[in-house]
Order: sequence, then C-alpha cells, then structure tokens
Amino acid sequence: MTPAGPRRPLVSGNWKMHHDHIEALHTMRDLGLRMKPEDVAQVDVSVHPPFTDLRTVQTLVEGESIPVALGAQHCNDHDRGAFTGEVSPQMLARLGVRYVIVGHSERRQHFGMSDELVAATLRAVLQHDMTPILCVGETEEERAAGRTETRLSSQLEAALQELDGSHVAGLVVAYEPIWAIGTGRAATAVDAEDACLFVREKVAELSGADAATSMRVQYGGSVNPENAPDLMAEPDVDGLLVGGASLDAAGFVEIIRASRPAAGRRKG
Ligand code: 13P
Repeated sequence: MTPAGPRRPLVSGNWKMHHDHIEALHTMRDLGLRMKPEDVAQVDVSVHPPFTDLRTVQTLVEGESIPVALGAQHCNDHDRGAFTGEVSPQMLARLGVRYVIVGHSERRQHFGMSDELVAATLRAVLQHDMTPILCVGETEEERAAGRTETRLSSQLEAALQELDGSHVAGLVVAYEPIWAIGTGRAATAVDAEDACLFVREKVAELSGADAATSMRVQYGGSVNPENAPDLMAEPDVDGLLVGGASLDAAGFVEIIRASRPAAGRRKG
C-alpha cells in the first residue's frame, strides 16, 4: 500500500517475566558494549524489562549513554488510586519510559484485559506523551477458520475509535499472531507482510491515510537473528517485537543489525 517512506524501524525487546534487576544489569552492560553508533543510526531500539528492573536499566542507559529507549510491558489506565499491585503511566513517565506495550496477548489471555481496557490504557499512555505499542493478533483457531482479518479489525476498531489521527500517526501497532508467540513457528515474511498491510489499510479506514502512512507496524512472534532479515525486508513491516531472542544481548544486536534499512533486500 505505502512506500516505506520515512518510517524509522523500531526493534523492541519484550523481556516478559525474565531477568531480575541483577541479570538486567548484566544484560544491559553487554548490550551497551556490543552496540555501535551505526547500529542505531537508522533504527530505534527499545527494551521492556519487568517493572522491578526499570530503575536499574534507566540509570545504566542514562549513565553509560546506551542508545536504547526505556520501555514498559504494561500499565494501569489510571494515574493513581486504590489499585493494589498496579503501576501507573504517570510513574512510568517519571522514570523516563518512552514506549509502553498495551494489550499484549498474554495480558488479554491470562489477565482478562478487555478491548475496552486496552483502549483506555492507550489513551492513558498517550496522555503522558509516551508511545504505546498496541498489540493485535489472532489465535490458531481464528487463523484456521479464516477469521484473522475479522479479529484484527475488531481489535483495531475497539482500540482506535476514540483517538484522533494525529495520535494514531505516532502509534506503533505490533501484529503478533498468538500461534507464533514462543513456539519457534514464526509467520513467513509473506504472511507477516499481508497482515501488517491489512493493519495499515484498516487504520487508514479508521483514522485516515496520513495516520496509516506514518504509523509504524511491527511483527512479533518467534523472531530470531535468522528470520529477522526476511521479515524486515517487507515494505509494511517497520520493526520487530522480540520476546525470547531479546534476552541475550548478542542475539538481540544481530536482530537490530538485520533491521537497518541498508540490510534490507527489497524494501521501498
Ligand atoms: P517470542 O519472540 O518469544 O515468540 O515472543 C514474542 C512476543 O510475545 C513479544 O511481545
């Protein structure tokens, strides 16, 4: 649909519930030593550690000028209040968090996060000038029944309906098919492109063509250093949301390098 244009790739590492703050320190040091200025000349990188690691990672990233943005995996949709166990977007913003994953399928599946709560959380994150990474994706059953596009449409409609185009333009949407997460069975580059293109077309319908052209769409699900180059060569794949393979600095840096526009094969 759209040429890659000025969309800057974004490679994000979602650590999920891995790495305590000591392990986080080691992983970030390793990442800092391996990353070269040219790795991030044309690519944005974010890391999303567990909440208990955020302060440690923030201090290290700032103190040692590691060229990655701080990310969170989730947050509440309120700024404060009697919500035991929750973390607010305001708290994240004060820590210098730039990207917040919203509506990851694991939150939707295991913690009952509804489409309505996803929409409210998106708005809360935007209110604090952070960038949401909105996750959408179909189950294995939905895919087998040919209902992938129906599922993506309903998730996008619910999430974006109250946002204006200028907010949507700055958004990141991560297409993460549930059957590909943690299974070692990534989508093929062609299937990832089809779904990411569908997401962009749907966003054009909901929020306008300008927003759809500017917005970045990531693919996530069993990304590794071997499949990253093919995925990133696709015109509507603007980045990768990486789980397991982001836990190890060496592998994550390889994925970042595979995402440089110069490394792409036929983008644009
Ligand atoms: P894996 O890369 O481990 O499949 O996880 C993907 C994911 O859910 C990232 O948010």
